[in-house]
Amino acid sequence: MSQFPFDAVVFDLDGTLFDAEEGIVSSVVKAMEELDLPIPPDADLRLVVGPPLRTSLREILRVPEDRVEDGVQRYLYNFYHEGRFRYRVYPGIRKVLYALRKAGVHVALASSKPAHTCELILNHFAISHYFDVIMGEVDGKDKLGKPELIRRALPEKYSRAVMVGDRLFDVEGAKAAGVESVGVSYGCGSVEELENAGADHIAHSTEELFQLLCPGGEAPRGMFISMEGPDGSGKTTQANRLEESLRQYGFDVLRTREPGGCPISEEIRGIILNKEHMEMSPICEALLYAASRAQHVSQVIRPAVEEGRIVFSDRFVDSSVAYQGGGRQLGVGLVQQINQPAVDGMLPDATVYLDIDQAEAIRRRFSASEPDRLELAGDAFHRRVQAAYEELLAQGDDRFIVVDAARDVEPIAQEILQRVLDRLEPDRKQEA
Ligand code: TYD
Repeated sequence: MSQFPFDAVVFDLDGTLFDAEEGIVSSVVKAMEELDLPIPPDADLRLVVGPPLRTSLREILRVPEDRVEDGVQRYLYNFYHEGRFRYRVYPGIRKVLYALRKAGVHVALASSKPAHTCELILNHFAISHYFDVIMGEVDGKDKLGKPELIRRALPEKYSRAVMVGDRLFDVEGAKAAGVESVGVSYGCGSVEELENAGADHIAHSTEELFQLLCPGGEAPRGMFISMEGPDGSGKTTQANRLEESLRQYGFDVLRTREPGGCPISEEIRGIILNKEHMEMSPICEALLYAASRAQHVSQVIRPAVEEGRIVFSDRFVDSSVAYQGGGRQLGVGLVQQINQPAVDGMLPDATVYLDIDQAEAIRRRFSASEPDRLELAGDAFHRRVQAAYEELLAQGDDRFIVVDAARDVEPIAQEILQRVLDRLEPDRKQEA
């Protein structure tokens, strides 16, 4: 039995768990283009989110009556193939779902979207495993309606249930089903709309929702993820992609980098990468990297992980092992020793390694931006870096996620995301 106020919570989908605006608006706009119809200049496209689609097409976009059905079909097609992938899990929602689940609360979905679409969306965004019941509308003409959807989403027995939604339909549905309601005003409905409909509680943010539903609840554990690879492996592009995807999926991401990541470490970075410092000795270089790491770990990485955030660092200690241990020939043992007090036990939970062939890495390095001091170090140096990375991987530590980086950007980004999600949400259901 949970200590939380409600032992059954039913969520609406669009505007409550997900920011659906971009997904829906882009699908509508594409349908209008395909129909060769103009968007009226005064049309506020945001308003198409919420009302039934046919109403939006007729009243907001002024689609002629004889083309409405065609518009609906085109919308559905576009939404299925593109729009639904543009959803965003609201920041903070994962924390709410996690705490409810942990406390044994019955968690359900009641949405006016078709049940199959709901499942696809929850699976895609790796949150379906938080739900006991996923209720969506049936196909065909006889819709169940919100009150019936809510009733079916509830467990057989409960003592206090609540519906969480962003529109008046959710609040009215809750009343008709005989349960309390939380109106969330960060979605598509205003506080006024929700109050007028008679919402029992209002949450202005997902943080307030957390306080209402799970006071004192357990937050998910933080995680530390790093990305590694030789210069020219396309790391910056992939790091940007992964960061953006994790945010879209509602993770609380702190993006950082090495050398750098906080003011002291960024200053050290300036010294290390300065092209005028060609006389810098290998041991000086290794100690500077370790010094910058020590500050980064204690000031940034450890506190953020302890707060439950996902820290994502472009490079970490493996770079020192490869570049200074291998590249500069200081030896892996010495570099690990120097770094032990800097890392101080804070090894990444997962490390994405971009695996690329030496020749391809060189080709990419010289077609990119102006090289820094390390990038200028010569082919023999970079060959040793690569060999040291390979030795590290050969030890078989399952922290490493090795990805073939000699492909196009898109398939690499997809593979990285899926394999990182496996670590972040090990219980998730795979997409069909
Ligand atoms: P940066 O411009 O961040 O390059 P990249 O995009 O390849 O990460 O420069 C970082 C350089 O510093 C890069 O060449 C790798 C090197 N490096 C080390 O030699 N040792 C280390 O411990 C770290 C973190 C980086």
